[in-house]
Amino acid sequence: MTTNSSTAQSAVMSVYNRFPVTLVKGKGSFVWDNHDKQYLDFTSGIATCNLGHVPDSVQKKLEEQLQQLWHCSNLYHIPNQEELASLLVANSCGDQVFFCNSGAEANEAAIKLARSYSQKINGNANPLVVTFQQSFHGRTLATLTATGQEKIQHGFAPLMPGFSYLPFNDITALDELEKLQPAAVLLELVQGEGGVIPANEGWIQKLAQICQAQGILLMVDEIQTGMGRTGTLFTYEHYNIEPDVISLAKGLGSGFPIGAIIAKNEAAKGFEPGSHGSTFGGNPLATAAGVATVTQLLEPGILEHAKQMSSYLDKQLQKLQESYSFIREVRGKGLMKGLVVDKVSAGEIIQKAISHQLLILTAGPNVVRILPPLTVTTDEIDEFTKAMEKTMQTIEKGA
Ligand SMILES: Cc1ncc(COP(=O)(O)O)c(C=O)c1O
Repeated sequence: MTTNSSTAQSAVMSVYNRFPVTLVKGKGSFVWDNHDKQYLDFTSGIATCNLGHVPDSVQKKLEEQLQQLWHCSNLYHIPNQEELASLLVANSCGDQVFFCNSGAEANEAAIKLARSYSQKINGNANPLVVTFQQSFHGRTLATLTATGQEKIQHGFAPLMPGFSYLPFNDITALDELEKLQPAAVLLELVQGEGGVIPANEGWIQKLAQICQAQGILLMVDEIQTGMGRTGTLFTYEHYNIEPDVISLAKGLGSGFPIGAIIAKNEAAKGFEPGSHGSTFGGNPLATAAGVATVTQLLEPGILEHAKQMSSYLDKQLQKLQESYSFIREVRGKGLMKGLVVDKVSAGEIIQKAISHQLLILTAGPNVVRILPPLTVTTDEIDEFTKAMEKTMQTIEKGA
């Protein structure tokens, strides 16, 4: 077969709706395109570059590791993996860590762990995992089945057996959970892709109580909410609960691909040598990025700064809401914010923002998602606010 380099069609498979922007460089809260045009990046690579682009400490650690060893198999001990696991365990309610390469893989590991725990420990041959409507847990077959959104599942039948869905934040629907008697519940504490919807405190408390009383594993998907995104290292800390399993990815490696689950000792009994594995999971480079990222997140002041920036950003977003009637609501937690809009689509807003050199995201058709790095400054938030005002004015004129 010959290739024709003059054809305009990309050789990259078309699974993304891409904006006509080619990004080639990043530092802190900014990225640059291939024409050296600067953009303020309030997407953080979708909650991934939580320390901003190319953070110095992570870059240094990666450069050091590049000189040493890039990869070795999990048949041998990997010092960075040990160090990262210890850091995660010391700063969470969990006891043991399994490393993989992405969020979907982390949730796959969580689902496998729940199934094997239920079979091995409780003798349940047909374990069920309960998830929630509007959730998002990934694109592999098990995780898209876990995802409570038909649009993600469409076209991929037959779906995996063993999943059931309940309405999110609905306290009365928790009666159903008691009836279903699942092996595990898997949920996001702030639904990200589903519309930046924080879980209600009372609902989570009741859910956690039911899980505790009935021996159901409480598994939180912190792939988007973790690594300081909401002002604490993990979002479960806001809710005064102790999950049995936490899945992580995105912000764990500052952009270097890595995923993980942290499990309590009891839940971890589900796995034994040979149960699960990954060629690249926890490789020396990925875990170098992870060690440097977590170490920096734990430095005094970083999470406190993120909390202050969250309050400052909130105030600016409230002002925007007061000025533009099509902004119905400002919601979210920490530096994970959503603007609920009506009469105008979120997609149109983010498209227009690009022409004002601002990158933001959608979370469904009517929510604009705003995810600045935790290192964002008040000046950058002011710059964001100005770009948003220009964007909203363009929309208002056009509306
Ligand atoms: C909450 C949540 N879970 C899982 C995933 C899947 O992660 P990945 O794209 O790394 O497979 C995502 C990605 O957006 C996510 O936001």
